Amino acid sequence: MCGIVGYLGHREAFDVIVKGLQRLEYRGYDSAGLMLFDGDQVTVSKTKGKVFDLKERAENANAIHGNLGIGHTRWATHGVPNDVNSHPHLSNSKRLALVHNGIIENYQSLKTTLEQRGYTFSSDTDTEVLVNLIEEIQQKEQVKLAKAVRLALNQVVGAYAIVVFDIEQPDRLVTARMGSPLAIGVGEKEYFIASDASPFIAYTSNAIYLEDGEMAVIARDQEVEVRKIKSNKEVDPFIVELELSLEEIEKGGYDHFMLKEIYEQPKAIQDTFRGRLLSDQGLIKMAGVEQHLNTFIEAKRIIIAACGTSWHAGLVGEYIFETYLRIPVEVEYASEFRYRDPVIGPGDVLIAISQSGETADTLAAIKLAKSKGAFVFGICNVVGSSIARETHAGAYTHAGPEIGVASTKAFTTQITLLTLIALKLSQAKESLSHSEIKHLTKALEAVPAKVQEVLELDAHIKAIAEAYFRAENSLYLGRGYNFPVALEGALKLKEISYIHAEGYPAAEMKHGPIALIDEQMPVFVIATRKGHYEKVVSNIQEIKSRKAKIIAIVTKGDQEVAALADHCIEIPEIEESLTPILTTIPLQLLAYYIAIMRGCNVDQPRNLAKSVTVE
Ligand code: M6R
Repeated sequence: MCGIVGYLGHREAFDVIVKGLQRLEYRGYDSAGLMLFDGDQVTVSKTKGKVFDLKERAENANAIHGNLGIGHTRWATHGVPNDVNSHPHLSNSKRLALVHNGIIENYQSLKTTLEQRGYTFSSDTDTEVLVNLIEEIQQKEQVKLAKAVRLALNQVVGAYAIVVFDIEQPDRLVTARMGSPLAIGVGEKEYFIASDASPFIAYTSNAIYLEDGEMAVIARDQEVEVRKIKSNKEVDPFIVELELSLEEIEKGGYDHFMLKEIYEQPKAIQDTFRGRLLSDQGLIKMAGVEQHLNTFIEAKRIIIAACGTSWHAGLVGEYIFETYLRIPVEVEYASEFRYRDPVIGPGDVLIAISQSGETADTLAAIKLAKSKGAFVFGICNVVGSSIARETHAGAYTHAGPEIGVASTKAFTTQITLLTLIALKLSQAKESLSHSEIKHLTKALEAVPAKVQEVLELDAHIKAIAEAYFRAENSLYLGRGYNFPVALEGALKLKEISYIHAEGYPAAEMKHGPIALIDEQMPVFVIATRKGHYEKVVSNIQEIKSRKAKIIAIVTKGDQEVAALADHCIEIPEIEESLTPILTTIPLQLLAYYIAIMRGCNVDQPRNLAKSVTVE
C-alpha cells in the first residue's frame, strides 16, 4: 500500500525523503513522487516506477533542495500507475501539495461539486479531489491550513493518512489519520512524518502515533499540536520511545529481506516464547491471557479472523485449540466475516491475527465483533499497531520487523504464540494433564534448534529448486496440521515466483485437482510420520501412478516415502502439533530460490503490498 514521508527541519529534505521512501518500498508500490520547498520555491518530481527512478529524475532536474518536503510511494487504487496519478497532488492554484495513503470513498460526489464550482482535475485520483476540497474551503471560509484540513476531513468518508503543505504557511506541515497508519518522529529541531517509524529511526527514536480521527500540526520551533478532527479538541501528544533498531530493518548481509527473515526464525520463535515458557515447571506466563482466563475457557466458541498467511496460521490454531482445549473453533477470512452479518455475540471470543496489525479487513472484523459484544484478542507482530490498540487484550509475537512482502517468520511465530495460548488455557481448563503440558512445553522449547537443523538443508533445497524453477503449475498437499502448510507453501510460491500453485488437503485431490496432474507437474507433499502418515503415503502412490514429480517433506530416516518420491527433504522428529513450524521452512526456501532463479523481485513482488490497509 502507499507509503508517505514528510520532513521539516535543518537537513536536506531530499535525502531524508528518498531514504525514507526506500525504507517503505516493502509496502509495495508502482510509482513515487516528492515535493520540496527551499524557502522560496516549490519543486515537484513524480514518476511511474521505483524510488530509484524518482531520485534520478529529481537530480536531473536539480529539484533536490529544501529543508521541508513530502514524499510518497503509490499503490494504485483510483487510476493507473503513471506520472500524473502519482503523488504529491497540487491544488488548482498550486498553493497546496498533498500526499495520501488510503481511499476517499465519496470522492466522486465531492469531485462533481468541485467541478460545478470551476475546479478542474488532471489525474484520476481521489487524492486530487481532497487537496482541492481543502483549497476551496480555505478560499471560501478564509481560514488557515489546519482549519481547512479539519473542515475538509469532516466531509470525507473513507480512510486516509495525509500530509499537506501550504506555500502561504511554509513553516509547517499538517498531517491527519483515519484508518491508515501514521507516525511522527520528534527530533532536535526537526520533525518527520511517515507511514511507520522505519524512515526516521536513523534520526530519532522518539515518536508520536496519531490515533484514528486525529490530526497534527508540526511547525518550526514549535511543539507538535494534536487535535481531534471531529471536535477540534486539543489532545496531549504522547511521545513513545521506539525499540526498533536500524540493524533490524537492514538486510544484514543477506541478499533479500525474505532470506534474512527465513533465517531469523530460530531467534524469532525463541523471542516469542522468551519469558513466557517455563518448561521446567510446565508453566506458561501470558499476562494478556491470564487476565481473561474465564472469558476464554467459558467461551461458547472461538472465532479466528485473519487474512493471507495469518489466516493459514489461524487454521493451524484451529487444530491446536480443538485438540488441546476442546472448544469449537472457526477460522474466518476477515474480509468475508465483516460483510456477512455473522452470528456472534457475548460469550464468543474472536482472535484476530495480523503481522502488521494494520490489515483493513481484520481491523473491520474486530470492530464488528466488538460491536456485537464478543471479546476480542489480538495476535500482532507490530507493536502499537492499530489492531493491537483496537482489541480488548492481546499478545505480541515479538518476531522483529518483517519487511519482505512474503510472510515467513510471522507465520511460524504466530503458530508458536497460538500454541502458548492453547497450553495456557489447557492448564486453566485442565483439558490436558500437567505431564502432557510439561511434555509439550519441552517440545516447544526444542523448536528453535530443530528449525536451525532444517535451515541447514539450504543447499539441498536450492538444488531441488533448480530442477523445478521452470514449472508453470504446481500442487501442494498436506493433511491435518499440515493442510494449512500446503496452503501456505502454495501462497509463498505464487506470490513471489508467479507460478500457479494450488494448496489442497491431500485427500481432496481425488475430488478434482488430480485432473491437473501430468508428468510436468511438481507435487509438494508433506508426509511426516505422525498424523495420517499411511493415508498420505496412499495419496503419494496415486500421484506416482500419474507420473507427476514428487517432492516430499518427511521425517528424518523415512524409507517408505523415500522409495516413492523424486526428492525428499527430511525434518527432525517433532510433536505432531508443532510439525507445521518445521515443514513450512523448506517450502519457504523452495519458493525463495525458485523465484530468484526466475529473476523475480522477491522482496517486492508485483502488485502486492506488505500491509493491506485498504479493503
Ligand atoms: O499483516 P497481516 O498478517 O494482517 O497480513 C495479512 C496478509 O496480507 C499477508 O499475510 C499476505 O498474505 C502475505 N503477503 C503472505 O505472504
